[in-house]
Amino acid sequence: MSAQAARGNWGSRIGFILAAAGSAVGLGNIWGFPMQVGKGGGAIFVVLYLFCVFVICFPILVAELALGRSSGKSPIEAFAVTKPNTPWWVVGALGVMAGVGILSFYSVIAGWTVAYIWFTATGAVAGTPEQVAGYFSAFVADGGKNLVLAFAVLGITAAIILGGVREGIERASKVMMPALLVLLVLLAIRGLTLPGASAGVAYYLKPEWSEVTNISVLNAALGQAFFSLSLGMGCMITYGSYLSKSTSVVGAAGWVAGLDTTVALLAGFIIFPAGFSIAGFDPAAGGPGLIFAVLPQLFATMPGGHLFGAAFFILLSLAAVTSTISLLEVPTAALVDKGWPRKKAIYVLTGVVLALAIPSVLSQGAVAGLSRMPGVEMDFLSLMAIVWNNWALPIGGLLIAIFVGWVWGADHAIAELSAGGVAFPGARLWAVLIKYVCPVAILFIIIMTARGMFGG
Ligand code: PFF
Repeated sequence: MSAQAARGNWGSRIGFILAAAGSAVGLGNIWGFPMQVGKGGGAIFVVLYLFCVFVICFPILVAELALGRSSGKSPIEAFAVTKPNTPWWVVGALGVMAGVGILSFYSVIAGWTVAYIWFTATGAVAGTPEQVAGYFSAFVADGGKNLVLAFAVLGITAAIILGGVREGIERASKVMMPALLVLLVLLAIRGLTLPGASAGVAYYLKPEWSEVTNISVLNAALGQAFFSLSLGMGCMITYGSYLSKSTSVVGAAGWVAGLDTTVALLAGFIIFPAGFSIAGFDPAAGGPGLIFAVLPQLFATMPGGHLFGAAFFILLSLAAVTSTISLLEVPTAALVDKGWPRKKAIYVLTGVVLALAIPSVLSQGAVAGLSRMPGVEMDFLSLMAIVWNNWALPIGGLLIAIFVGWVWGADHAIAELSAGGVAFPGARLWAVLIKYVCPVAILFIIIMTARGMFGG
């Protein structure tokens, strides 16, 4: 068996696209994106987000895939073999840590989505808006139950990736992604045909420029774009390392970014019309509970609501698991490239992530000191989300852009992506974006945000 085959590889281009889009499409699209739109003032956030996706993040997606395929390695080794005897491998190591850190809180929220399939299907959440919201706060404050749920999510994830790249990740993505897309379209149609839907659509699509009063909205849009496309932590380096040399990577990257963006935008068409059809709905007040504490009010009262509610949370759970797969695959691949047997790596990492998930589980009301942490005035889970999404991923992305654009060299990346006569349309534009536009834009946003946070 060749070294490449021993690590695993994708069986087909479409298999890769579905797996990579599966990684990208996740809670970030259906839970995170509408929540950020709510916090960021509606359509204005959508505009900033689209700018970040296409101008900053898409070039980095291409860069990560190029680095992964060229080296055939997971993040740490990818930097190490491309520029041996330099400290650049540290960027890969940070990415592996980000994967573990993100998975530790992501699996907790994924656990909520799984539980809510049951709660909505059985009509357990019902009653006045206060009762529905109260149900959510009581549920998340139950530490024991939520630890079991997070464990279940991690167990399913581990079971899938134990099957390997092709028989595990690719096979699961080929079933789960089409199911997810069908559910999403059906639910968006239902959302748009609800009474009062137009107020939600207007809020979502009409930008109020006066609302941009704070640079932190731009930072949130950038962090959200990185998170949504699974960038800045080497996930796409890892998935790129399983690509064959004959695959046309740039076109596949276009599919991944296009699917991810479409799903996020469609999720808004489910959540805002549904939200605005509830009297007294305030999108900015939703926070992490937006879809758990608010939408079930609607599911409890609309005709066929139990069915739609359950379908909605099945959609979320599918999206979550195709992403947890990739979050666990990054540290797994790193250990496999260090010579660990795949099975042992997966067992050890699942245990580590579960242990790290405990403070996030307990931060939703179970333990007061974690639920409102002194100094930061927020709960531990929200703090984790901000540290990793808004800071670690953009910083990782900045370093990856500098590495690919300047250290490895944009020309080497272009040569890799055009190998065997594969077309790379816009290669020159990409080189300008990765060398100049991405680093400058990310650095600008990071510095402005830091100044805003720490004064100065
Ligand atoms: N892209 C996923 C989402 O939007 O939910 C989250 C994610 C997965 C981030 C994998 C980073 C990653 F490497």
